[in-house]
Amino acid sequence: MDALPTPALILDRLAMERNLAAMSKHLAAHRKKARPHAKTHKCALIAQAQLAHGAAGLCAAKVGEAAALILAGVPRVLITSPLQSPGKVAVLAELSQRAAELLLVVDSMAGLELLQKYLPAEARVGVVLDIDIEMGRTGIRVLDEARRIVAAARADQRLGFAGVQHYAGHLQHIASFGERKERSLESWHNALAFAQAAADELPPIVSGGGSGTYAIDVAVPEITDLQVGSYLFMDREYRDIESCGGASFTEFEVALTVACTAISAPLADAGAATLNGGFKAFASDSGVPVPYDGVQGKFRFAGDEHGVFRVVSGQSRPRLGDVLRFVVPHCDPTVNLHDVYWVLEADGLVHSLWPITARGLVW
Ligand SMILES: Cc1ncc(COP(=O)(O)O)c(C=O)c1O
Repeated sequence: MDALPTPALILDRLAMERNLAAMSKHLAAHRKKARPHAKTHKCALIAQAQLAHGAAGLCAAKVGEAAALILAGVPRVLITSPLQSPGKVAVLAELSQRAAELLLVVDSMAGLELLQKYLPAEARVGVVLDIDIEMGRTGIRVLDEARRIVAAARADQRLGFAGVQHYAGHLQHIASFGERKERSLESWHNALAFAQAAADELPPIVSGGGSGTYAIDVAVPEITDLQVGSYLFMDREYRDIESCGGASFTEFEVALTVACTAISAPLADAGAATLNGGFKAFASDSGVPVPYDGVQGKFRFAGDEHGVFRVVSGQSRPRLGDVLRFVVPHCDPTVNLHDVYWVLEADGLVHSLWPITARGLVW
């Protein structure tokens, strides 16, 4: 650890493997599949590990992320955000020739018509109807338009109506498990009624949900696969909410940390040391990093490249040169700040670097 060029994104491979195994066991027990979201890890090697654990395919947030995965050999990808650019349809057409299955969510007739206008005859892109109930981000709410999308997709041999998606992101971090459960089941109830009315019969894929509702949504018989993402790494945001089994969400282990080095100590008298990780090492949309390995104290951002870590009174402050690891506040955007995972093995050493294949591909 002391030899790494910090700040370094550390992946504890065995903890990740245990998370993968726990999720696939849970889903298999409920006869569901994972369609894990690659927006969390953006890494083709991890996508392959998820497929090896029985995933139905991978989700990608955007076309760029899907391109990185498919060009690296991931065979089945669902793009979970709608698009409105002719240039991206051209990329989709190309990708559809290289993937065993390429699926795209559509939530407007304009989106469907764009595909019809720009996809060449040989392209094959399955349409997944994205349904919004109350989140207000993407997804359709207008039944008549949804019916037209389904009919047009069914009638076009380049497309086909492959499935429906419902993702209630605003429910994933509700602290109370009971409230999260009630609202997620209600949201799915409404989404499925909408899907049934739009399509007359449910398509082969009914996909959605996330790590916050992974133990809840399995009770919905119509759902075929869950788009879980963060369970793989577990960030501070998720650790803080209640799980089905208790006060904090510990069914999955923290597998992702950022290691920083103490490089200066102007506030030594206050028990603080300055670390070499700031906004460029940790995404800061969801609070501050928390110490991983037992040291008690508080981190505060001190700019792009720095953070100040102050220990609780009675503890000795980090010495210059000490390396400290932190649980990240929010895993997905933190990963997108780094080029590689430093992969930690059981002996406590880093043996390999895994490229973050889709890093920066936010289009
Ligand atoms: C459409 C969609 N599905 C699934 C996920 C994964 O959610 P989580 O990281 O909570 O498991 C996300 C995350 O934002 C998402 O946007």
